[in-house]
Amino acid sequence: TEETLVLVKPDGVARGLTGAILARIEAKGYALVDIRLVEADRELLEQHYAEHAGKPFYEPLLEFMQSGPSVAIRLAGNRVIEGFRSLAGTTDPTTAAPGTIRGDFGRDWGLAVQQNLVHGSDSPESAARELQIWFG
Ligand code: GTP
Ligand code: MG
Repeated sequence: TEETLVLVKPDGVARGLTGAILARIEAKGYALVDIRLVEADRELLEQHYAEHAGKPFYEPLLEFMQSGPSVAIRLAGNRVIEGFRSLAGTTDPTTAAPGTIRGDFGRDWGLAVQQNLVHGSDSPESAARELQIWFG
């Protein structure tokens, strides 16, 4: 089995979509190993988004991620890294496929940052690194 870090980002929490998102994850059959509400500070987010440092959307992204709490989830299951990214849909919610979390619940709100509701680790290496950052 495999583990991944899932985040319900501040837009998802603020819109009251945490339950709906968790329902999809549970319906798919993945196991919740740990879950917590986190007010991420800048230091944590700099670690989490280190690969994006210097990109044009980096500062707006860090600010958005500090706009409210996120729900951090340690999720387990066979091929859950790939499987959750498929459930989440592609990065841009405008064009993410219907049936995915981003496609069904997200859209472009006209803001600088793509508020795309969820995060999922993109590789086993990222998952190990990110789980350490969010769960210690
Ligand atoms: P995550 O699961 O959140 O990591 O999404 P991802 O893997 O689909 O995207 P990526 O890691 O490339 O980017 C991380 C986050 O930065 C995205 O989820 C968006 O919130 C934001 N982002 C990525 N690309 C852009 C962009 O081109 N413009 C803006 N405004 N935001 C972006
Ligand atoms: Mg990513």
